[in-house]
Amino acid sequence: MTKKHALPQDNFFILNEQYLTLDDFLPGITQKTLELDLGCGKGDFAVALAARYPERIVFAADVMMGRLRKVARKSERNQNPGNLFFFRVEARHLVSIILPDNSLDRLHLLCPDPWPKAKHKGHRLLSSDFMMQIARVLKPGGVFHFATDDVPYLEQGTANIKGSGLFREGGEISDVADIKTEFERQWMAEGKAVTHTAWTKIG
Ligand SMILES: C[S@@+](CC[C@H](N)C(=O)[O-])C[C@H]1O[C@@H](n2cnc3c(N)ncnc32)[C@H](O)[C@@H]1O
Repeated sequence: MTKKHALPQDNFFILNEQYLTLDDFLPGITQKTLELDLGCGKGDFAVALAARYPERIVFAADVMMGRLRKVARKSERNQNPGNLFFFRVEARHLVSIILPDNSLDRLHLLCPDPWPKAKHKGHRLLSSDFMMQIARVLKPGGVFHFATDDVPYLEQGTANIKGSGLFREGGEISDVADIKTEFERQWMAEGKAVTHTAWTKIG
């Protein structure tokens, strides 16, 4: 069952229904320039991106309801221009089932949990299989923006992206280079480097 959240907003969706697609609840939205902050956490990036580009649609998605709720309230207090939508949803469900083909202009995956232990590797988002789904939902020429502080995850992620044969290296992310997420600020304060990579969908 998909319910709109009880908050006094109509831009907050809890997506549990297995076979729901975006067109079922936001028909026609993919006609616009569309960006997704996947695993948005406290949502600093999505909120700043939506404010910077009021003519674009920004989706902020996370499994953590509490976090998402706070971001939605913050964005409402900041009088977001109405272009920011929140989804409480599992990332694979959103990308593999709900989003249609060729719907996103950019997908941002910023400081995802690296799940370093071998027994948790199934939780890592950047599997080869998931790369195919990311390519599916990006428009031709769409950009996949991946950032991490975790060197093994960066290496593995890069290998999977290149190995997919679906992306060429590079893409426009310089316009958002100044927007730092909560986790990025945290890692930087600890003296760690966060590497941002951009990949453009081929075809
Ligand atoms: C390390 S935090 C990074 C948050 C934010 N991108 C940042 O850079 O500050 C990872 C976020 O991804 C979310 N997350 C982890 N696995 C997820 C999944 N499978 N589906 C959706 N969100 C997920 C977590 O709840 C958390 O908010």
